Amino acid sequence: MEQRLTMNQPHPPTAEEVNQRLIAQYTEIATLAGGLAHEIKNPLSTICLNMELLAEDFADAATPRDRRALSKIAVVQQECQRLQSLLDNFLQFAKVRTVRFEASDLNAEVRRVLEFFAPKAQESGIELVAYLDPDLPSVVLDRESFHGALINLVLNAQQAMPRGGQLVVRTRTAATGVALELIDTGVGLDKKTAGQIFDAFFSTKPGGSGLGLPTTRKVVEAHGGRISVESEVGRGTKFTIDLPLPPRLTAARPS
Ligand SMILES: Nc1ncnc2c1ncn2[C@@H]1O[C@H](COP(=O)(O)OP(=O)(O)OP(=O)(O)O)[C@@H](O)[C@H]1O
Ligand SMILES: [Mg+2]
Repeated sequence: MEQRLTMNQPHPPTAEEVNQRLIAQYTEIATLAGGLAHEIKNPLSTICLNMELLAEDFADAATPRDRRALSKIAVVQQECQRLQSLLDNFLQFAKVRTVRFEASDLNAEVRRVLEFFAPKAQESGIELVAYLDPDLPSVVLDRESFHGALINLVLNAQQAMPRGGQLVVRTRTAATGVALELIDTGVGLDKKTAGQIFDAFFSTKPGGSGLGLPTTRKVVEAHGGRISVESEVGRGTKFTIDLPLPPRLTAARPS
Protein backbone atom coordinates (compact mmCIF):
# COMPACT_ATOMS: atom_id res chain seq x y z
CA MET A 1 0.00 0.00 0.00
CA GLU A 2 2.67 2.43 1.04
CA GLN A 3 4.68 1.53 -2.02
CA ARG A 4 1.66 2.23 -4.29
CA LEU A 5 1.25 5.70 -2.79
CA THR A 6 4.88 6.49 -3.43
CA MET A 7 4.55 5.42 -7.07
CA ASN A 8 1.55 7.72 -7.63
CA GLN A 9 3.27 10.76 -6.15
CA PRO A 10 3.98 13.47 -8.68
CA HIS A 11 7.58 13.52 -9.78
CA PRO A 12 9.52 16.41 -11.31
CA PRO A 13 9.43 16.06 -15.12
CA THR A 14 12.50 14.67 -16.80
CA ALA A 15 14.36 16.80 -19.34
CA GLU A 16 12.91 14.62 -22.11
CA GLU A 17 9.33 15.17 -20.82
CA VAL A 18 9.87 18.95 -20.66
CA ASN A 19 11.24 18.85 -24.18
CA GLN A 20 8.27 16.87 -25.51
CA ARG A 21 5.84 19.23 -23.77
CA LEU A 22 7.57 22.30 -25.25
CA ILE A 23 7.52 20.76 -28.74
CA ALA A 24 3.79 20.00 -28.36
CA GLN A 25 3.09 23.57 -27.15
CA TYR A 26 5.15 25.09 -29.95
CA THR A 27 3.39 22.95 -32.54
CA GLU A 28 -0.02 23.97 -31.22
CA ILE A 29 0.83 27.70 -31.22
CA ALA A 30 2.40 27.48 -34.68
CA THR A 31 -0.65 25.65 -36.03
CA LEU A 32 -3.04 28.20 -34.49
CA ALA A 33 -1.01 31.16 -35.73
CA GLY A 34 -0.75 29.58 -39.18
CA GLY A 35 -4.52 29.04 -39.23
CA LEU A 36 -5.11 32.64 -38.22
CA ALA A 37 -2.78 33.90 -40.95
CA HIS A 38 -4.70 31.80 -43.49
CA GLU A 39 -8.01 33.19 -42.26
CA ILE A 40 -6.71 36.74 -42.72
CA LYS A 41 -5.32 35.99 -46.18
CA ASN A 42 -8.68 35.30 -47.85
CA PRO A 43 -10.54 38.51 -46.90
CA LEU A 44 -7.34 40.44 -47.52
CA SER A 45 -7.07 39.17 -51.06
CA THR A 46 -10.74 40.21 -51.61
CA ILE A 47 -9.83 43.71 -50.36
CA CYS A 48 -6.78 43.82 -52.66
CA LEU A 49 -8.79 42.68 -55.65
CA ASN A 50 -11.52 45.25 -55.05
CA MET A 51 -8.92 47.98 -54.63
CA GLU A 52 -7.49 47.01 -58.01
CA LEU A 53 -10.96 47.29 -59.57
CA LEU A 54 -11.51 50.65 -57.90
CA ALA A 55 -8.13 51.88 -59.15
CA GLU A 56 -9.18 50.87 -62.69
CA ASP A 57 -12.47 52.79 -62.29
CA PHE A 58 -10.57 55.89 -61.24
CA ALA A 59 -7.72 55.43 -63.73
CA ASP A 60 -8.73 58.45 -65.83
CA ALA A 61 -9.57 60.64 -62.84
CA ALA A 62 -10.28 64.13 -64.16
CA THR A 63 -11.55 66.08 -61.15
CA PRO A 64 -9.44 66.92 -58.06
CA ARG A 65 -11.85 64.83 -55.97
CA ASP A 66 -11.33 61.77 -58.13
CA ARG A 67 -7.55 62.28 -58.14
CA ARG A 68 -7.59 62.45 -54.31
CA ALA A 69 -9.65 59.24 -54.23
CA LEU A 70 -7.15 57.56 -56.59
CA SER A 71 -4.18 58.47 -54.41
CA LYS A 72 -5.96 57.09 -51.32
CA ILE A 73 -6.72 53.87 -53.20
CA ALA A 74 -3.00 53.62 -54.05
CA VAL A 75 -2.10 53.89 -50.34
CA VAL A 76 -4.56 51.13 -49.41
CA GLN A 77 -3.19 48.97 -52.24
CA GLN A 78 0.37 49.41 -51.01
CA GLU A 79 -0.60 48.45 -47.46
CA CYS A 80 -2.56 45.44 -48.77
CA GLN A 81 0.54 44.21 -50.59
CA ARG A 82 2.66 44.73 -47.49
CA LEU A 83 0.22 42.69 -45.39
CA GLN A 84 0.08 39.95 -48.02
CA SER A 85 3.85 39.58 -48.08
CA LEU A 86 4.00 39.71 -44.26
CA LEU A 87 1.47 36.88 -44.05
CA ASP A 88 3.33 34.81 -46.67
CA ASN A 89 6.59 35.24 -44.76
CA PHE A 90 4.88 34.45 -41.49
CA LEU A 91 3.35 31.26 -42.90
CA GLN A 92 6.80 30.28 -44.15
CA PHE A 93 8.24 30.93 -40.68
CA ALA A 94 5.52 29.19 -38.67
CA LYS A 95 5.07 26.25 -41.01
CA VAL A 96 5.22 22.94 -39.17
CA ARG A 97 6.65 20.95 -42.01
CA THR A 98 7.87 17.42 -42.40
CA VAL A 99 11.52 17.64 -43.31
CA ARG A 100 13.08 15.31 -45.83
CA PHE A 101 16.72 14.94 -44.98
CA GLU A 102 18.98 13.38 -47.59
CA ALA A 103 22.71 13.18 -48.24
CA SER A 104 23.45 16.27 -50.31
CA ASP A 105 26.22 18.17 -52.00
CA LEU A 106 26.30 21.62 -50.37
CA ASN A 107 28.28 23.03 -53.32
CA ALA A 108 25.51 21.96 -55.71
CA GLU A 109 22.91 23.67 -53.49
CA VAL A 110 24.98 26.86 -53.42
CA ARG A 111 25.31 26.78 -57.23
CA ARG A 112 21.54 26.42 -57.52
CA VAL A 113 21.02 29.52 -55.36
CA LEU A 114 23.64 31.51 -57.27
CA GLU A 115 22.04 30.57 -60.60
CA PHE A 116 18.69 31.82 -59.31
CA PHE A 117 20.28 35.01 -58.03
CA ALA A 118 22.61 35.78 -61.00
CA PRO A 119 20.11 37.86 -63.06
CA LYS A 120 19.15 39.96 -60.01
CA ALA A 121 22.82 40.42 -59.11
CA GLN A 122 23.62 41.63 -62.60
CA GLU A 123 20.71 44.09 -62.54
CA SER A 124 21.92 45.48 -59.18
CA GLY A 125 25.60 45.72 -60.16
CA ILE A 126 26.63 42.95 -57.76
CA GLU A 127 29.60 40.78 -58.63
CA LEU A 128 29.17 37.17 -57.50
CA VAL A 129 32.31 35.28 -56.51
CA ALA A 130 32.16 31.62 -55.47
CA TYR A 131 34.97 29.67 -53.80
CA LEU A 132 33.53 26.18 -53.48
CA ASP A 133 35.79 23.58 -51.87
CA PRO A 134 35.89 20.64 -54.34
CA ASP A 135 36.73 18.19 -51.52
CA LEU A 136 33.76 19.17 -49.36
CA PRO A 137 32.25 16.12 -47.63
CA SER A 138 28.58 15.48 -48.19
CA VAL A 139 26.06 16.79 -45.63
CA VAL A 140 22.48 15.94 -44.75
CA LEU A 141 20.00 18.55 -46.00
CA ASP A 142 16.31 19.13 -46.41
CA ARG A 143 17.01 20.75 -49.76
CA GLU A 144 13.78 22.69 -50.11
CA SER A 145 13.94 24.51 -46.78
CA PHE A 146 17.71 24.97 -47.01
CA HIS A 147 17.33 26.56 -50.45
CA GLY A 148 14.80 29.04 -48.99
CA ALA A 149 17.15 29.81 -46.12
CA LEU A 150 19.98 30.70 -48.52
CA ILE A 151 17.70 32.77 -50.72
CA ASN A 152 16.83 34.91 -47.66
CA LEU A 153 20.54 35.55 -47.11
CA VAL A 154 21.37 36.50 -50.69
CA LEU A 155 18.32 38.79 -50.93
CA ASN A 156 19.40 40.52 -47.73
CA ALA A 157 22.90 40.93 -49.19
CA GLN A 158 21.41 42.45 -52.34
CA GLN A 159 19.31 44.87 -50.29
CA ALA A 160 22.40 45.83 -48.27
CA MET A 161 24.20 46.84 -51.49
CA PRO A 162 21.83 49.32 -53.15
CA ARG A 163 24.68 50.76 -55.22
CA GLY A 164 26.17 47.38 -56.13
CA GLY A 165 29.17 45.61 -54.66
CA GLN A 166 30.49 42.11 -54.26
CA LEU A 167 29.06 38.95 -52.75
CA VAL A 168 31.55 36.20 -51.97
CA VAL A 169 30.15 32.75 -51.25
CA ARG A 170 32.58 30.24 -49.87
CA THR A 171 32.35 26.64 -48.68
CA ARG A 172 35.06 24.96 -46.63
CA THR A 173 35.69 22.05 -44.32
CA ALA A 174 35.52 23.15 -40.68
CA ALA A 175 36.57 21.57 -37.38
CA THR A 176 33.23 19.87 -36.72
CA GLY A 177 31.69 19.74 -40.18
CA VAL A 178 31.40 22.11 -43.08
CA ALA A 179 31.00 25.87 -43.18
CA LEU A 180 29.32 28.17 -45.66
CA GLU A 181 30.18 31.87 -45.69
CA LEU A 182 28.37 34.72 -47.42
CA ILE A 183 30.34 37.94 -47.39
CA ASP A 184 28.90 41.15 -48.80
CA THR A 185 30.37 44.62 -49.21
CA GLY A 186 27.13 46.28 -48.14
CA VAL A 187 26.09 48.85 -45.56
CA GLY A 188 26.96 46.61 -42.59
CA LEU A 189 25.46 46.51 -39.11
CA ASP A 190 26.31 48.16 -35.82
CA LYS A 191 26.67 45.96 -32.71
CA LYS A 192 23.21 46.75 -31.32
CA THR A 193 21.45 45.96 -34.62
CA ALA A 194 23.53 42.81 -35.12
CA GLY A 195 22.20 41.59 -31.77
CA GLN A 196 18.60 41.95 -32.96
CA ILE A 197 18.57 40.70 -36.53
CA PHE A 198 17.51 37.14 -35.64
CA ASP A 199 14.54 38.40 -33.57
CA ALA A 200 11.18 37.73 -35.22
CA PHE A 201 9.72 40.91 -36.80
CA PHE A 202 12.91 42.95 -36.39
CA SER A 203 13.47 44.92 -39.59
CA THR A 204 15.14 48.18 -40.59
CA LYS A 205 13.49 48.14 -44.02
CA PRO A 206 10.26 49.87 -44.93
CA GLY A 207 7.89 47.02 -45.69
CA GLY A 208 10.30 44.37 -44.36
CA SER A 209 8.66 41.52 -42.44
CA GLY A 210 11.70 40.83 -40.28
CA LEU A 211 11.07 37.13 -40.66
CA GLY A 212 13.77 36.27 -43.23
CA LEU A 213 16.65 35.70 -40.81
CA PRO A 214 14.57 34.04 -38.03
CA THR A 215 13.31 31.59 -40.68
CA THR A 216 16.85 30.99 -41.91
CA ARG A 217 18.06 30.38 -38.37
CA LYS A 218 15.20 27.99 -37.67
CA VAL A 219 16.05 25.99 -40.78
CA VAL A 220 19.78 25.91 -40.01
CA GLU A 221 19.12 24.76 -36.44
CA ALA A 222 16.74 22.05 -37.69
CA HIS A 223 19.81 20.75 -39.55
CA GLY A 224 21.79 20.64 -36.30
CA GLY A 225 23.78 23.66 -37.46
CA ARG A 226 24.25 27.24 -36.36
CA ILE A 227 24.39 30.63 -38.03
CA SER A 228 26.47 33.59 -36.90
CA VAL A 229 27.14 37.11 -38.12
CA GLU A 230 30.12 39.46 -38.17
CA SER A 231 29.78 42.95 -39.52
CA GLU A 232 31.27 46.40 -39.77
CA VAL A 233 29.25 49.51 -40.59
CA GLY A 234 30.11 50.81 -44.05
CA ARG A 235 32.28 47.80 -44.92
CA GLY A 236 30.02 44.78 -45.10
CA THR A 237 28.66 41.70 -43.44
CA LYS A 238 29.62 38.06 -43.19
CA PHE A 239 27.14 35.31 -42.34
CA THR A 240 28.58 31.90 -41.48
CA ILE A 241 26.54 28.71 -41.43
CA ASP A 242 28.16 25.75 -39.69
CA LEU A 243 26.70 22.36 -40.50
CA PRO A 244 27.59 19.08 -38.82
CA LEU A 245 28.64 16.00 -40.74
CA PRO A 246 26.34 13.00 -40.66
CA PRO A 247 27.13 10.94 -37.49
CA ARG A 248 28.80 8.09 -39.40
CA LEU A 249 31.24 10.47 -41.06
CA THR A 250 31.92 12.40 -37.84
CA ALA A 251 32.88 9.16 -36.13
CA ALA A 252 35.19 8.26 -39.00
CA ARG A 253 37.06 11.56 -38.84
CA PRO A 254 40.34 11.50 -36.94
CA SER A 255 40.10 13.54 -33.74
N1 LIG B 1 23.53 41.36 -45.33
C1 LIG B 1 23.04 42.28 -44.51
N2 LIG B 1 23.66 43.48 -44.37
C2 LIG B 1 23.16 44.43 -43.54
N3 LIG B 1 22.07 44.28 -42.79
C3 LIG B 1 21.42 43.10 -42.87
C4 LIG B 1 21.86 42.05 -43.73
N4 LIG B 1 21.02 41.00 -43.59
C5 LIG B 1 20.10 41.38 -42.69
N5 LIG B 1 20.31 42.63 -42.27
C6 LIG B 1 19.51 43.37 -41.26
O1 LIG B 1 18.72 42.44 -40.56
C7 LIG B 1 17.34 42.85 -40.59
C8 LIG B 1 16.47 41.61 -40.53
O2 LIG B 1 16.61 40.83 -41.72
P1 LIG B 1 15.42 39.86 -42.16
O3 LIG B 1 15.83 39.18 -43.41
O4 LIG B 1 15.03 39.02 -41.00
O5 LIG B 1 14.20 40.84 -42.41
P2 LIG B 1 14.06 41.95 -43.56
O6 LIG B 1 15.07 41.67 -44.65
O7 LIG B 1 14.10 43.28 -42.93
O8 LIG B 1 12.60 41.68 -44.09
P3 LIG B 1 12.21 40.59 -45.20
O9 LIG B 1 13.20 39.46 -45.10
O10 LIG B 1 10.84 40.22 -44.88
O11 LIG B 1 12.31 41.29 -46.52
C9 LIG B 1 17.22 43.68 -41.85
O12 LIG B 1 16.13 44.58 -41.77
C10 LIG B 1 18.57 44.40 -41.88
O13 LIG B 1 18.56 45.51 -41.00
MG1 LIG C 1 15.28 39.70 -45.44
